[in-house]
Amino acid sequence: MSQDSWNSALYEQNHAFVWQYGESLLELLAPQAGERILDLGCGTGQLTEKIAQSGAFVQGIDSSLSMISTAKANYPHISFAAADARDFQVEVPLDAVFSNAVLHWVKQPDAAIDCVEKALRPGGRFVAEFGGKGNVGAIARALLSVLSEIGLKEPESLNPWYFPSIGEYALLLEKQGFDVGYAVLFDRPTLLEGGSAGMVNWIEMFAGGFLSGWSDDVRSRAILAVEECLRPTLYRDGNWIADYRRIRVVAVKNY
Ligand code: BEZ
Repeated sequence: MSQDSWNSALYEQNHAFVWQYGESLLELLAPQAGERILDLGCGTGQLTEKIAQSGAFVQGIDSSLSMISTAKANYPHISFAAADARDFQVEVPLDAVFSNAVLHWVKQPDAAIDCVEKALRPGGRFVAEFGGKGNVGAIARALLSVLSEIGLKEPESLNPWYFPSIGEYALLLEKQGFDVGYAVLFDRPTLLEGGSAGMVNWIEMFAGGFLSGWSDDVRSRAILAVEECLRPTLYRDGNWIADYRRIRVVAVKNY
């Protein structure tokens, strides 16, 4: 995760779906006892703990100190450290790097892939899921349109997200020494927690970058305007469904 505007308590309270959905990614990782694995962007550590349960030696890193401090409190038996996905090193080459719902925050993907490549042993695997091309498209369009309406000249310049296509990301991986064995882009409509408050909670947690620099009053009005734009398409029977689209990749470092 890229900046420390994270509130790990609110993240755990309202957005547990992030790691709950990530559990199926663990099947692609298939961690084995004794393997050395890094959880890149571990958040509050729930998936790191699942990896540890396989008997693998796992370490979690995240750029948010708030997330790392909560992860350490949640799972004191696991090693967690603050580190940037674009600039980290490991002491001993790893069997696998795992990453769930993080790389869409990393706008320099080649820097992150370079670190992953250097961290793995030859034949080691990189298993990742994040937002893919078109992810939260309706939400992003509503945010950009509301920001234009309130007078912002280039709202796209505030976009904090990186949502690549399979072709784009696979090419980056191949250029940096990986064979891409599996890549898929799929829609995953996602029920937001909090009932009628779900979209406002989500925007405050995950889309704050679009709204930084505005007064609290303008910010609140903008969020309500975005919510109204989205209500006809994403609100059903008292719940908000976000238009998530995921990319999953499994890539192996060349020998
Ligand atoms: C995602 O998991 O796809 C996501 C999370 C936060 C902001 C944007 C996308």
